[in-house]
Amino acid sequence: MSPALLRICKAPAVTALLIQLACLPASYVALRLLLGAGVDIDYAGAALLQGVLAAACARWRRLARWWLAIELLFPLALLGTLGLQLPPSLFFVLFMLFVLVFWSTFRTQVPYYPSGLRAWNAVAALLPVQPLRFIDIGSGLGGLVLALAARRPDSTFCGIELAPLPWLASRLRTLRQSNACFLRGDYESLDFAQFDVVFAYLSPAVMTALYHKASAEMRPGSLLLSYEFCIDIKPPSLTIQPQGGGPLLYGWHF
Ligand SMILES: C[S@@+](CC[C@H](N)C(=O)[O-])C[C@H]1O[C@@H](n2cnc3c(N)ncnc32)[C@H](O)[C@@H]1O
Repeated sequence: MSPALLRICKAPAVTALLIQLACLPASYVALRLLLGAGVDIDYAGAALLQGVLAAACARWRRLARWWLAIELLFPLALLGTLGLQLPPSLFFVLFMLFVLVFWSTFRTQVPYYPSGLRAWNAVAALLPVQPLRFIDIGSGLGGLVLALAARRPDSTFCGIELAPLPWLASRLRTLRQSNACFLRGDYESLDFAQFDVVFAYLSPAVMTALYHKASAEMRPGSLLLSYEFCIDIKPPSLTIQPQGGGPLLYGWHF
């Protein structure tokens, strides 16, 4: 199996789905036995049985606690939704929308959520005074990149985003900002050596790998910033509380 496929198979969301599928035959057998023994079970009871088995397997596979709740409630939620008799096209449209917005979040474990003005102000205050090249890895709708590009016309601000819809939105927003650019792709394939400042607002799941990549590629004098999420294996060289409160901004000098 290729490493990329292996990574996808190991993603918690894929494991959770495989657990539900793997529990179906066991639920069926348990249901037949219970019905054979004269126990009266309706559809909701059968869905609960499947949920309990799946949650037990999720615990055995050591998935995070919230996956246990998802495994338990998923069959009941599915049954309830089927009862609403919504048009199948609605599910297709919603599915496509989620795919375009979240793309491979199930693999990266980094969904979209914006940082906001307090973080942008804190980042702006940390930028070197001389012209620089900046990248937001996982730029979402591009708010941070565009805000900084407007404040610092002497510098170049880029974003790289994996999900197509947020990338397209940021690409359209950049038409009036010549010192901003947005790439569509995976930051893991990007060479950080091109940048003076690398900004990340990702998730705890990727921080150690991000540090290894940054320390291998970033040039002396450059700066890695991470909003909200610290790196366990490397204490930050700076920790900033943005004005107005909210999560901390961490920095590592190379
Ligand atoms: C928490 S949001 C941060 C958005 C933006 N940086 C901000 O500050 O508002 C994280 C974004 O990273 C993107 N992302 C996750 N993994 C990525 C990867 N490997 N390469 C590029 N983008 C990624 C997600 O699609 C999501 O839009």
